[in-house]
Amino acid sequence: MLLNLLLLSLLPLASPFLLPPPPPSLPTALRALVDPLLSVPFPASLPLWSAEVTEGNMFRPAGTYLCASSPSHSVAALNPQTLAFVPGGGLGFVLEEVASSASAGITCVSELVPGSPAAATGIEPGDCLTSISCGGRAVSLEALGYDATIEALTGLIGGLSAPAELTVTASRLQRTPMVNVTLLSPFDPPQTLSMPAGSNLRRTLLVRGFKLNDALAERFDSGGTGDCGAEGTCATCAVSVQRGMELLSPAGLQEQQIFQNNPRWRMACKVVVGHGGKEGELVVRLSPRQS
Ligand SMILES: *[C@@H]1O[C@H](CO)[C@@H](O)[C@H](O)[C@H]1NC(C)=O
Ligand code: FES
Repeated sequence: MLLNLLLLSLLPLASPFLLPPPPPSLPTALRALVDPLLSVPFPASLPLWSAEVTEGNMFRPAGTYLCASSPSHSVAALNPQTLAFVPGGGLGFVLEEVASSASAGITCVSELVPGSPAAATGIEPGDCLTSISCGGRAVSLEALGYDATIEALTGLIGGLSAPAELTVTASRLQRTPMVNVTLLSPFDPPQTLSMPAGSNLRRTLLVRGFKLNDALAERFDSGGTGDCGAEGTCATCAVSVQRGMELLSPAGLQEQQIFQNNPRWRMACKVVVGHGGKEGELVVRLSPRQS
C-alpha cells in the first residue's frame, strides 16, 4: 500500500493533545551506527524492512521494533538530527507506509521536500523515523503504520505556536558487512566462503563442517587429545594468514607469545573476522604445520 502525503502543512488536526504520547523508545542502544558504505539505496531498501515484537531488556522496553527481513541486512541508527520547526510550515518528510497491522507498522521516508527542515537533516529516503522530541517531550515513532505515525507527530508538534527545535532519530537499513574467506588446506582444494563481519573464525568453520584442529600441531597446554575448546591454549586451531590480517581482531598477549616465531599465525578460536565491521578478502591456510 502506498500512502504518500506531504507533511508540509502539519496544522493541528482534531484535538491533537488528547492523544497520549507513546513511551519514548530506546532502540538505538542496540543498533550499530550508520556506515555510508553499507547503505541500501532507496527504494530497494523498502522490502527489506521488517518489525519484531521483543521482550524488554536493559536496553529497551518490551515492544515492537524495526529490524531487517534478511540476515544479510541489519538496522543501524543515525545520530540524532535537529530540525528547525516553524509553526504553519511543515517538517518536509514525505512518508510511505510499507506495511501495517492492527498494532504495528512500517513507515519510511520516501522523499524530503526540497528546502524543508527535513532536507537539512542527514535523513534520506528509505530511512524510518524512530522518535521525535521537543523541549523534553519525546514520542516514539518506532514501527508505526502511517496513520499512527501522523497521529504521534501531530500530538507532539501540532499545537506548537512558536518556532521550536526538534530532535529526530531515524534508522537506516544497511547491508551486513561481509568478509570473503578463502581457505587453503593441505588436504582439500581451495574454497571461498562468505562470513558476516563479527564472526568467530573457529566457530564458523566448525559449524560449516571444515576440519580445523590440527592433531599434529605443537601444543602449548598440557596436551592430550582433542582441542582446548577455544581457551586459546592448545594452538591446534592455528591458521596462517596469507592476506587480510587487518580484517582480524588483534591478537592478545598470550596468543602473541605462543606464536612469537610465526607472526602470520593466528588462533582461529580467538579471531573475529571483519573486526569492527570491516569488509574484505581474507586468505588463510589451515593446518599450517602440515603445508
Ligand atoms: C565477496 O565475493 C563476492 C562474490 O565473488 C563479491 O561479489 C563481493 O564483492 C566480495 N566481497 C568482498 C568484501 O570482497
Ligand atoms: S582451540 Fe585451543 S587454542 Fe584455539
